[in-house]
Amino acid sequence: SYFTQAKFLTSAPDIAHLTPFDGIEIAFAGRSNAGKSSALNKITRQNSLARTSKTPGRTQLINLFELDEQRRLVDLPGYGYAKVPLAMKQKWQKSLGEYLQKRECLKGLVVLMDIRHPLKDLDQELIYWAVSAKLPVLILLTKADKLKAGKRKQQVLMVREASLAFMGDVTVQAFSSLTGVGLPEAENVLLNWLGV
Ligand code: GTP
Ligand code: MG
Repeated sequence: SYFTQAKFLTSAPDIAHLTPFDGIEIAFAGRSNAGKSSALNKITRQNSLARTSKTPGRTQLINLFELDEQRRLVDLPGYGYAKVPLAMKQKWQKSLGEYLQKRECLKGLVVLMDIRHPLKDLDQELIYWAVSAKLPVLILLTKADKLKAGKRKQQVLMVREASLAFMGDVTVQAFSSLTGVGLPEAENVLLNWLGV
């Protein structure tokens, strides 16, 4: 797969530290523990490219991964973790909004949500910002292996229906980093955004 060539490039403490880039970036965002880093590892077939953890809040930095000279994947810190001080949460939400609005090389946003608990307030806010910034959104409903087929389908349909309200380019896909469910579909969307 094209994605196996991904290499760690650099980390940044916040949006302000990202240097301009004239290629394409695709960012992975979502609540803490949603499975962002796991999904990145699955997509790149590298088990330890992005660090994963049972403890929410593992990814505290913005991590950039290079696919080739013109294309990158970005692992963003999670939001919504209860134990993070309010001021820090608000700061991160603000900079996330700025990133979506101002990062010109950003060409798509992957929003990851646990399939059992999708579309929390902050998820909706994020999707709303992305659509407002004219970015296409791929919603990955993660940990799909935790639900039986019937319930899984029901959740996908529910989120698809709800996401019509955003009136943007929003795709909804069940996904599992454990079993690979939804991996080909997710890759197709990303390849399309990357122009590969
Ligand atoms: P932060 O960096 O803290 O924001 O979390 P994250 O969104 O990067 O989540 P991470 O990938 O670290 O995964 C969190 C936990 O969920 C880990 O214990 C993973 O093993 C587990 N997990 C992630 N994806 C899946 C999945 O598809 N199925 C199952 N069963 N567990 C998963
Ligand atoms: Mg992470």
